[in-house]
Amino acid sequence: MSDQKLYPVIPAIAASAHIDTDRYHEMYRRSIDDPEAFWSEQAEQFLDWERRWDSVLAHDYPRGEIQWFIGGKLNVTVNCLDRHLATRGDQIAIIWEGDDPSHHSTLTYRELHRQVCKFANVMKSQGVGKGDRVCIYLPMIAEAAVVILACARIGAIHSIVFGGFSADALRDRILDADCRFLICADESYRGGKIVHSKLNVDKAAKQCPNLRTVVVIKHTGHDIPWSNGRDVCYHEAMQSADETCEPELMDAEDPLFILYTSGSTGLPKGVLHTTGGYLLYAAMTHKYVFDYREGDVYWCTADIGWITGHSYVLYGPLCNGATTLMFEGVPTYPEPDRFWQVIDKHRGNIFYTAPTAIRALMAQGDAYVQRTGRDSLRVLGSVGEPINPEAWEWYYRVVGDQRCPVVDTWWQTETGGILITPLPGATALKPGSATLPFFGIQPAILDPEGHPLDGEAEGILVLTFPWPGQARSVYGDHQRFVDTYFSKFPGYYFAGDGARRDADGYYWITGRIDDVLNVSGHRLGTAEIESALVLHDQVAEAAVVGFPHPIKGQGIYAYVTLNVGVEGNETLKAELKNLVREEVSAIALPDAIQWSPGLPKTRSGKIMRRILRKIAANEFSDLGDTSTLADPAVVEQLVANRQHPS
Ligand code: PRX
Repeated sequence: MSDQKLYPVIPAIAASAHIDTDRYHEMYRRSIDDPEAFWSEQAEQFLDWERRWDSVLAHDYPRGEIQWFIGGKLNVTVNCLDRHLATRGDQIAIIWEGDDPSHHSTLTYRELHRQVCKFANVMKSQGVGKGDRVCIYLPMIAEAAVVILACARIGAIHSIVFGGFSADALRDRILDADCRFLICADESYRGGKIVHSKLNVDKAAKQCPNLRTVVVIKHTGHDIPWSNGRDVCYHEAMQSADETCEPELMDAEDPLFILYTSGSTGLPKGVLHTTGGYLLYAAMTHKYVFDYREGDVYWCTADIGWITGHSYVLYGPLCNGATTLMFEGVPTYPEPDRFWQVIDKHRGNIFYTAPTAIRALMAQGDAYVQRTGRDSLRVLGSVGEPINPEAWEWYYRVVGDQRCPVVDTWWQTETGGILITPLPGATALKPGSATLPFFGIQPAILDPEGHPLDGEAEGILVLTFPWPGQARSVYGDHQRFVDTYFSKFPGYYFAGDGARRDADGYYWITGRIDDVLNVSGHRLGTAEIESALVLHDQVAEAAVVGFPHPIKGQGIYAYVTLNVGVEGNETLKAELKNLVREEVSAIALPDAIQWSPGLPKTRSGKIMRRILRKIAANEFSDLGDTSTLADPAVVEQLVANRQHPS
């Protein structure tokens, strides 16, 4: 079994790391024995508070109630910007690297602070205030950091929508949070192609009657349609804006942002994160998980539209006064050595990316890596999906030249920050294992009936105790928060993942146990894709499942039942793909569509996805018990017509 392979801590890393093995165990113990004292100390050490908290923690898991640092007051941007000005005002806060390798720029902490204050004043002059929801639909440009932090400056709640989402997905998110103010770019670049951001906004806005103001940042500078009275030019507004903006005093539990994420049912949920606990957890994990040190150039390749971009491109690094790199492009443009070229160009020390990118680059061969130096690298990170040992080994051996520990970090949108992870100077590594819990994190493995399993075990991963970065609610629907995370196994936070704990206490995440897909590290609900497919007037029913995919981790396989008398053909397939692209995103396009006159259902009408998953995975030998099916013959028909995914 792959648990046998163990990479000891690299002595040169341990010698200078913040946390070595003994210190990890000592701090971990303390964080569990006396969480309130532990987190109090961390909150003092990592953050500047305007007012100290009255109590550290109050929680009631069955009601989904979690509060940290109650009564504490602070502002996120004071912590991410103002307090750095005296000591590192002229240090680079953000390195921006464009899609085109000849485009790059930098912002110092002083300049970033100045621009954030200015845009905060722009928003105020447009009537945006504390508690208002602001939608941000932007590519990876430096201005994204400016507008995100400007929201935090004035206490507005940002809701960032990934720039790759369609107009319809954008519309749903604007409506759900009732955003009246939106910031977008004219267009953006991705792998040399143009993305028409503003056109998507115009389309979404038609169905968002409350959307009053759209601020447009010029990025490509091409001509775009303009709606007088609604659209505001970012650059003109910034020119006349005042440079001073007092930070809004926020309660530790005031909302900081909403971020939509997919679940097993219904539309994506607006996961709500608050101010004090979230920032502390992002900053502390950033420092210890990546062993961040003063002067490091730190690069996380995630888009700001995902939680990884929130916590580890912006909030964590900036709170720690780091130089963080924002990358607009893709790993393979102009060539598959782009990541390594960027590392050499900016002398990157810490690099954090997703297994899907590692697998895609591995498939291109070692030469693209080996023609670059990468000698500045010290720590490598992985996030978003299980990393297969083969990809881990390649990352460690070829990219990191066996000098750099690989931290495989397990966490979720809802957890705000990393929960299970190695620490570079403390944890011996096993390829494919996220290893051990971070400070304060108490994982447990349950059997299907909810009984905790001791020692070596495999089952359902839960967390038994709160941590400061944990989500507080689903925006506008607290009951959904309770139902999704706290009802299935009362007294625990239910993560939706399966896991195995080995004899050394190491955790191995085995993947989602619900109908959530993880395609190239992007989280998608099967229900969202199915709803898009059934919008077609010739489709009667659709069922979507995931199957193992060599690069994407999971691919998407759709079984589609057409209306009686309709013949399936390639044109129809193209129309269905288009629907998915329009309703959800290009990242949700099915890799295979199979016309299925019938779907395997129980007598009570429930689709047996287990069987559909097996067929999609080409595993026909063990289809399990099919005797409870209403019509067992359906299965043979599906097997006979299996499609080869593209
Ligand atoms: O299934 C787990 C997988 O990604 C899910 C969370 O997705 P999302 O909220 O989009 O956040 C992704 C970035 C934190 C988890 O439920 N996942 C994430 N990281 C890992 C992982 N699975 C295995 N190993 C990981 N390191």
